[in-house]
Amino acid sequence: MGICIFHRHELTHVANDEFVGYIQLVNYSGCRAPHVEYKIYKQFRRKGFMTVHFPIFLKGCADMGFNQLVAIVKKNNSPSKKILKKNGFFLAKDMGDNLAYIVDLRLNKNNSEFIKIVDDLSIK
Ligand SMILES: CC(C)(COP(=O)(O)OP(=O)(O)OC[C@H]1O[C@@H](n2cnc3c(N)ncnc32)[C@H](O)[C@@H]1OP(=O)(O)O)[C@@H](O)C(=O)NCCC(=O)NCCS
Repeated sequence: MGICIFHRHELTHVANDEFVGYIQLVNYSGCRAPHVEYKIYKQFRRKGFMTVHFPIFLKGCADMGFNQLVAIVKKNNSPSKKILKKNGFFLAKDMGDNLAYIVDLRLNKNNSEFIKIVDDLSIK
């Protein structure tokens, strides 16, 4: 099965409209919850772009009815883990080199019930 992008947020610099990165919601077959993927291009990192835009993106997901989301992060990716934790994601599964974080945007708190969504998670 192919990959489907449900929702994509392209980030541009207010001063010159330059493309600085993106956040997108993608589905992978085999996992019940869509995955959040995001990137800020190197020269624009650590300037607060993701801190500002990630909550806006999540609000958009909730408005579209996507509430239970997954994010897969390399264990050593501290900035990414910071962004997730600041936005209510919690660690659901240790996958070796990667960690799976999940959030339920309706609850915004830990809930063992929806840990089930990562039961069948595999790294793509
Ligand atoms: C992860 C990423 C999206 C963060 O975007 P960003 O716009 O640079 O993040 P922000 O500037 O909003 O910073 C978020 C937090 O991380 C910290 N941070 C950012 N870069 C950091 C770095 N290189 N080292 C340590 N901390 C860092 C910031 O200080 C901030 O912390 P605070 O909340 O305590 O102030 C960006 O680093 C990136 O694109 N990385 C490569 C792609 C990637 O890892 N994607 C995620 C895959 S799951």
